[in-house]
Amino acid sequence: MNIQSYPFGPLQANLYILFLKKHAFIIDPCVSLDSLDLKNRKVAGIFMTHAHYDHILEADLLAATTSAPLIALDQEKDAFIDPVKNGSLSFCNSEISIQTQLLLLKDGDVLSTADFGIDDELFVLRVMHTPGHSSGSMCLLFEFPDQEGPKKHMFTGDTLFSGTIGRTDIGGNMGEMRRSIAKIAALPDHVIVYPGHGESTTIGRERQWNPYFTPTFYNDII
Ligand SMILES: [Fe+2]
Repeated sequence: MNIQSYPFGPLQANLYILFLKKHAFIIDPCVSLDSLDLKNRKVAGIFMTHAHYDHILEADLLAATTSAPLIALDQEKDAFIDPVKNGSLSFCNSEISIQTQLLLLKDGDVLSTADFGIDDELFVLRVMHTPGHSSGSMCLLFEFPDQEGPKKHMFTGDTLFSGTIGRTDIGGNMGEMRRSIAKIAALPDHVIVYPGHGESTTIGRERQWNPYFTPTFYNDII
């Protein structure tokens, strides 16, 4: 397993490719296919952590060209087709309305490689609904039980960044964000975090340095 980031655009939104031996997954489809090196892997799924335009710019095209399912959380589904809710009407030159049928997940869903027809490498994926930045934001916690070295890798979209958290003033909610950070803070220190913008980090590092990642931010709601 290997993870490659592709920061894109003025906001440097991260597209990630998660490489398995013969397959790959894309997280946040914001970069065109001709800029990506898929290393001859077959794309088995395209996850969208949330519907903000800067993360979904190439969603329809990538899904069409790879034939991979486009996957998101059920609570976010309306924003993918609504240029007001996904911010493209206000912040982008074009209005984005995703036409591809979405494969919708729910909070607490647990998937594995077998659900994608993959038998070359094992992961278990836990889906976490983490509203606050947007109402249907999700974090994706991948565990690789057979891997040597770090086994847990989490894609946090715009919920948690290295050193800070996502904005809650563009259709989000601070109360929900506090609950979501509390949920993430319950994870062990060794989980590696891949945010929607900026550098990767770990839960332990955020517990130590992130001013929002402390009980003073969330202790009145747990
Ligand atoms: Fe966002």
